[in-house]
Amino acid sequence: MAFRSKLFFLEVGGNNGYTIFSRDFVSHRGIFPYNRGMDKERKSQLLAEKNRLAKQGGGQKRIDAQHQRGKLTARERLELLLDEGTFEEIGRFVTHRCTDFGLDKESFLGDGVVTGYGLVNGRMVYVYAQDFTVFGGSLAEAHAEKICRLLDMAIKNGAPIIGLNDSGGARIQEGVVSLGGYADVFYRNTKASGVIPQLSAIMGPCAGGAVYSPALTDFIFMVEQTSYMFVTGPNVVKTVTHEEISSEELGGANTHASTSGVSHFTAANDVECIEELKKVLSYIPQNCEELPPSLSYDEVGEKDCSALNEVIPALASQPYDMRSVVDGIVDDDSFLEVQKDFAENMIVGFARIEGRSVGIVANQPMVLAGVLDIHSSAKGARFVRFCDAFNIPLLVLVDVPGFLPGTDQEWNGVISNGAKLLYAFCEATVPRITVITRKAYGGAYDVMNSKHIGADLNFAWPMAEIAVMGAKGASEIIFRSEIRKASNPDEKLAEKIQEYADKFENPYIAASRGYIDEVIQPSETRKKVARGLKMLENKVDSMPKKRHGNIPL
Ligand code: HXC
Repeated sequence: MAFRSKLFFLEVGGNNGYTIFSRDFVSHRGIFPYNRGMDKERKSQLLAEKNRLAKQGGGQKRIDAQHQRGKLTARERLELLLDEGTFEEIGRFVTHRCTDFGLDKESFLGDGVVTGYGLVNGRMVYVYAQDFTVFGGSLAEAHAEKICRLLDMAIKNGAPIIGLNDSGGARIQEGVVSLGGYADVFYRNTKASGVIPQLSAIMGPCAGGAVYSPALTDFIFMVEQTSYMFVTGPNVVKTVTHEEISSEELGGANTHASTSGVSHFTAANDVECIEELKKVLSYIPQNCEELPPSLSYDEVGEKDCSALNEVIPALASQPYDMRSVVDGIVDDDSFLEVQKDFAENMIVGFARIEGRSVGIVANQPMVLAGVLDIHSSAKGARFVRFCDAFNIPLLVLVDVPGFLPGTDQEWNGVISNGAKLLYAFCEATVPRITVITRKAYGGAYDVMNSKHIGADLNFAWPMAEIAVMGAKGASEIIFRSEIRKASNPDEKLAEKIQEYADKFENPYIAASRGYIDEVIQPSETRKKVARGLKMLENKVDSMPKKRHGNIPL
């Protein structure tokens, strides 16, 4: 009887025009209940047909519509992501259990999400891909259960989880059950945080509370023009704040890459997005217990680093591109920048040195003179914490004039945001190397991975200036009365500035205290950092036992 009702369900269900077995077959089974040979063949046909149905999602019409929007289907995305022939699906025949609002007559195998595991460049990942052709990829009870099962497996077995999101949000017909499903996913995302890497690609809509699952994961990838994320969409925005704005402007890929900082990578289309996902995976370990993968490195052709000697301009007030310093130090073409269009005064990203992954955190003198502010501090802090969670050593390049002054910064919390970066470095126990290329002033010197907060090796270039503040500001304060009394105050000020600069605008006082381990020529940096990383590769360090710290969020 159970078999019969399942067949009936398939016959009427799916809203896709496919009837897979007629009632005749059911009655045949009744007529020939003991014909086991026929039964076996038909059972095998049933499986084949179910598989065919499951693979076509919401049907060809909806697949065509998906393609017309410039998007791939869930299964096409999985095919691109995973090594050929390695995908193993879990829960292909799961269906919803809802009977409200006509759903008793409409059901699709898989319930709008394809879940399973497979290999990316030979390494295991768990992956789910929401299928927009089935109820708009909306999440409800069964759909959520599939994602939760995958997250549980990924945590237990220690492999990254990748979510390919393309969903109209909570399945409206299932009401609060859908909300419960989301919360079940959020709970597991949080449990998984810091245990396994979690990557989210947004490849279609992602609205309402649905945004919080990707937001809880480590990296968000977005596709230009076809993806958007917002808590409340343009219509609600218009009603509440009277602002008129398109979905793209409110929460498209470029908005989140440059204005909100919610996303970390932007791709022109689905194919590029999946390539970018794979690239990120190549730098990170499977879980928090493992080291990141190392590429074999050919030491024969040693990299020519002499160009680094020319990077710093003659005048300390002139900018230069810190990316050229990064490129000069790391393995050729290995730098993968994260959040490159957000808080551009701070550069973060993955690279390799002699084949090993490192996390780069660097001030960018080209933007706001490399100053630390609210956004750059938060950006840096989050990246430092990811690297520390997943055993990726940190290389910190410092050229920072201090923190950005102003009411905007103070009133919006530069104190607590700056403290995030400070906290993140202080608690990081991975190998940590700092190179001060030029300025390291004030509190920003302390914050940017100074020796005092636990860095393992601190280098400075000969042009480094390590001081409480710039010579002019310092002289105006400490020599104020002397300057005021002078017959020529301007001349006196210039003299005092020179005196202060001669004493402090160099790395040698810090080196004499041991705050700097070595002053090195720029061209020596790669060699020194590579040796340092080797020396630190077995580093063991830990924080005092606690439930968890209280990072100033
Ligand atoms: C059920 C949905 C659905 C949903 C879309 N569909 N969203 N079914 N629940 N949430 C179905 C449509 O009925 C349609 O079915 C198919 O998916 C494709 O949708 P279209 O509207 O034809 O596509 P498009 O024009 O591209 O528009 C996509 C969309 C729109 C922008 C996502 O469908 C939309 O606005 N949907 C509702 C979004 C929403 O309000 N979600 C709830 C958000 S609140 P057929 O059968 O025609 O193919 C939320 C709270 C979560 O998510 C809280 C968690 C804590």
